[in-house]
Amino acid sequence: MTKTALICGVSGQDGAYLAQLLLNKGYQIWGTSRDAQMSSFKNLVRLGIKEQIKLTSMALNDFRSVLQVLLKVEPDEVYNLAGQTSVGLSFEQPVETLESIATGTLNLLEAIRFTGAPIKFYNAGSSECFGDIGDTSATETTPFRPRSPYAVAKSTAFWEVANYREAYGIFACSGILFNHESPLRPERFVTQKIIATACRIAQGSQETLHLGNISVERDWGWAPEYVEAMYLMLQHDHPDDYVIATGESSKLEDFVAQVFTCLGLNWQDHVVTDKSLFRPTDLAISRGNPAKARNQLGWQAQYKMRDVVKMMVEDKQNS
Ligand SMILES: NC(=O)c1ccc[n+]([C@@H]2O[C@H](COP(=O)([O-])OP(=O)(O)OC[C@H]3O[C@@H](n4cnc5c(N)ncnc54)[C@H](OP(=O)(O)O)[C@@H]3O)[C@@H](O)[C@H]2O)c1
Repeated sequence: MTKTALICGVSGQDGAYLAQLLLNKGYQIWGTSRDAQMSSFKNLVRLGIKEQIKLTSMALNDFRSVLQVLLKVEPDEVYNLAGQTSVGLSFEQPVETLESIATGTLNLLEAIRFTGAPIKFYNAGSSECFGDIGDTSATETTPFRPRSPYAVAKSTAFWEVANYREAYGIFACSGILFNHESPLRPERFVTQKIIATACRIAQGSQETLHLGNISVERDWGWAPEYVEAMYLMLQHDHPDDYVIATGESSKLEDFVAQVFTCLGLNWQDHVVTDKSLFRPTDLAISRGNPAKARNQLGWQAQYKMRDVVKMMVEDKQNS
């Protein structure tokens, strides 16, 4: 029987790749946007799958809207990838961030409970929840010490998922995903900003790349692989939470150097550090230990930071 998946936030990077993956597996896909009439769904267009997806509007912070969509779609699986996703912006819009992530997740869980249907639920957690853990790799049992409004909201949503799983037996999982990139990343995220600016410089632009703290270390993976982990969590025999990461971290400076090297340039000639771009609080090192996902789901990242940079630079040069 054809399964139906509802992807909340289908217009985003992960939503588009997940929709592609599930279409290839024979799913019927419904996708939501805050305003499906106005959104161009350019990521879906870019992947050539927009016409295969049923699109509908849904306001995650409005229980009535969430419930109506669930009753209309009757999904087997719900993937919640929507919400305010920028750590930087969360310092400027803390209420919007908390509402879209924490209230949004709660509304979905409540609506699933209300319908009483055996709907499986995936929620997009975040490595930002761990905060600063020094030079160690976070696992599923590492305590949360969130350091941004975004991380506070994601931590809240994580415990909502755990609570609904325990209290009501809902098949609900959180993926605690570390940074994952792709050509579908918007330019307000630093990785795509670096690549887009470096490519323009390589084509003769005289601009300078302004960056905040480039000594931070992150665990960067490839987004199309990370959506596979989401799918696998909902196919497992029991619901649980998983760290999804490559297991390797690199300094942002190394990411920058790698991008410019790919373009035959020396990064130090083109980059300036801009104190105004530093965040009020930031994480020095972020690295995950994906052993549980490897052992229980058979999931492992094939692509590491250098591969990700190469694929993103190549895509930008060809676009
Ligand atoms: N990419 C990563 O490295 C990473 C790492 C850890 C966790 N995550 C989480 O994984 C999920 C997917 O990430 P992504 O990179 O695909 O994000 P994304 O590209 O920014 O997409 C998120 C989608 O959420 C919707 N959205 C944006 N602001 C919203 C708001 N204030 N209220 C409600 N909806 C809003 C947007 O859809 P509409 O405009 O169409 O409504 C947007 O397309 C997110 O929850 C993100 O926080 C991502």
